Amino acid sequence: MKIIAIDYQVLTKSELEEEDALLVEAAIEAMSKAYAPYSNFTVGSAVLLANGEVVIGNNQENAAYPSGLCAERVALFSAKSKSPEPIKAIAIVANNAKGESADAFACGNCRQVMLEYASQDVQNTLIKVIMRNHQGQFYVLDDVKSLMPFNFNSTTLGS
Ligand code: THU
Repeated sequence: MKIIAIDYQVLTKSELEEEDALLVEAAIEAMSKAYAPYSNFTVGSAVLLANGEVVIGNNQENAAYPSGLCAERVALFSAKSKSPEPIKAIAIVANNAKGESADAFACGNCRQVMLEYASQDVQNTLIKVIMRNHQGQFYVLDDVKSLMPFNFNSTTLGS
């Protein structure tokens, strides 16, 4: 039997590194502008680029449900469409329909997109992931790769 362990910290907001706390603030601000009239589940995301720039995103829903997009991918695609800068970190927060903090655990599609940008051929820095949980604590992972073992990536394509 083989076991895969995930390294992560659980921190309060005041325990976050300053850079991470600022990124979380940007994600909270982005969440307030989410377009989520169908689920009323609002998500905000903020991406930190290696040059210090922060790019935000929020969930964008649609009457044709699958046409909508998660906050993380709105932020990641926006960041990468603006600049080839490596992505250093992504913060994600979510509120449920009652406006309470909910687990902002990135969905599988968003994890896949994060992994794409974390791959060695795209950038050489690790992507840190900061996700707020329903208790308002922050799960901090230094390497997005630990979120998705056995992933499909460009190396898989060539193998
Ligand atoms: N959502 C995100 O924005 N990010 C995720 O990682 C999971 C879900 C959005 C999609 C939809 O607008 C709402 O949350 C409910 O699924």
